[in-house]
Amino acid sequence: MTVASTAHPNHNPAPVTIEARRLDGKTIFITGASSGIGAAAARRFVAEGADVVVGARRIDRLESLVDELTSEGGNALAVHLDVTDEASVAKAVQDTVERFGRLDGAVNNAALSGAGAPIVDTDSDYVRQVFDVNLMGVYFSLKYEIPAMLATGGGSIVNVSSVGGIIGMPNISEYIASKWGVIGMTKSVALEYGGAGVRVNAIAPGSTKTDMYDAWLPTPEAQAKVAAYSPMNQIALPDDMARVALFLLSEESRWTNGTVIAADGGQHVGCF
Ligand SMILES: NC(=O)c1ccc[n+]([C@@H]2O[C@H](COP(=O)([O-])OP(=O)(O)OC[C@H]3O[C@@H](n4cnc5c(N)ncnc54)[C@H](O)[C@@H]3O)[C@@H](O)[C@H]2O)c1
Repeated sequence: MTVASTAHPNHNPAPVTIEARRLDGKTIFITGASSGIGAAAARRFVAEGADVVVGARRIDRLESLVDELTSEGGNALAVHLDVTDEASVAKAVQDTVERFGRLDGAVNNAALSGAGAPIVDTDSDYVRQVFDVNLMGVYFSLKYEIPAMLATGGGSIVNVSSVGGIIGMPNISEYIASKWGVIGMTKSVALEYGGAGVRVNAIAPGSTKTDMYDAWLPTPEAQAKVAAYSPMNQIALPDDMARVALFLLSEESRWTNGTVIAADGGQHVGCF
C-alpha cells in the first residue's frame, strides 16, 4: 500500500511505502514457544509472512501449534529444544537453516520464573536453574544464531528480558538478576555484531497473562494487586509483546540496535 506524503516543504515528498506483511521472506526462530509470549509471537510472525521455527521441550504442544499455523497457510517447524543444553541449541539452529535455508530473526524467550522468596530462603539449586535457563540459555542462543545470520548477510535478535530487568523487585531476586544480565548481554553483543549486520535488542515485558504469570500470582487478588502497579491498571496480553518483537524483527527498526523497549504500560516509570 502506498500512502501519499504530506506536502509540507520540510518533509521528504517521496511516497511512504507500507509493507503489507512485515516479515515476508524471513525465517524466525523462537525459544520457549510452547506457551505464552513465544506461542503468540509464532502466530503473529506467521501472519506477517515469516517462516517460523518454534523450539521448546514440550514437543506435543509445539506440534499442535505447528498444525494450527500450517492449516492457516503458514510455514512452521517444531524442534525439540532445551536452552540449557548447548548441543540442543546448536541442533535447533542447524535444523532451522536446513529446513528454510536461512535465519533472519530470533526471539530468545525461554525462561523460568523466580522462586518467590527472600534471598536467604531460596533454594540454591533452583536459583542455579534460573540462571541456567534465563542467562545461559540466551548465551547459547546468541552463540549459534549469530553465525547462522551472518551466513546470509545479517539479521535481528530480540532477547526477552522483563520490567524486572530494569528495576528491582522483592522475592524474585534471582529472576531479576538474570533479566538484568540479559540486558547487559544484549547491549554488549549489539556492539560486537551491529557492524556485521546483526542487530540485538531486548524487550522488557510488564505483567502479561501467561502460564508463568498465573503460576507466580495464583489468586485473583494477587493479580489485581500487581496489575495496579501499571499506570494502565491492567495486564498485557501475550500478543502485545509479540507486536513489539515484530517491530524489532522488521525493517521498521533497521536503525534500532542495543536498546531495550519496555512494554509494561509505563510500570517502570514509577508506581504512583
Ligand atoms: N508473563 C509475564 O508477566 C512476564 C513478564 C516479564 C517477562 N516475561 C518473560 O517473557 C518470556 C516468556 O514467558 P511467558 O510469560 O510467556 O511464560 P511461559 O511460561 O508461558 O513461557 C516460558 C517458556 O519457556 C519455556 N522454557 C522453560 N525452560 C526451558 C528450557 N530449558 N528450554 C526451552 N524452553 C524452556 C517454557 O516451557 C515456556 O514455554 C520469559 O522470558 C519471561 O521471563 C514474562
